[in-house]
Amino acid sequence: MEQTLLLIKPDATKAKNIGEIISILESKKFRIEEMIMFKFTPELAERFYSEHNSKEFFPDLLMFMTSGKTVAIILTGKNAISRLRHIIGPTDPEMCEPDTIRGKYASSMRRNAVHASDSEEHFLAERRVIFG
Ligand code: CMP
Repeated sequence: MEQTLLLIKPDATKAKNIGEIISILESKKFRIEEMIMFKFTPELAERFYSEHNSKEFFPDLLMFMTSGKTVAIILTGKNAISRLRHIIGPTDPEMCEPDTIRGKYASSMRRNAVHASDSEEHFLAERRVIFG
């Protein structure tokens, strides 16, 4: 069994999609290990997304991630990291199959509803930033 981390971002929490997204995760046999709801501070968002700090979209990413509440969930499952990335779909919702989480709930590349760890190394770093 493997662990991974999912964020339900401010666009999806504002749109009241938390329950439906959690239902999808449970229907795909993930087990919820830990879950918190919080608001990113600019400092926390900068640490979480530090690998993107030189990108042109970084200021907008910080503004968006601090604009409302986020739900962070640690999930356990078989091949959890790659399976969850498959279930959420690509970063750009225009590239997503309609039955993926981003296909259902994302409105653009910058307002894309969820984030999922893309490797064990990133999962460990992201978990440390959010859960300490
Ligand atoms: P996420 O999976 O949370 O990881 C980094 C985020 O930056 C990503 O989702 C998008 O919301 C955003 N992002 C990634 N690439 C781009 C891009 N080319 N333009 C704008 N936003 C991007």
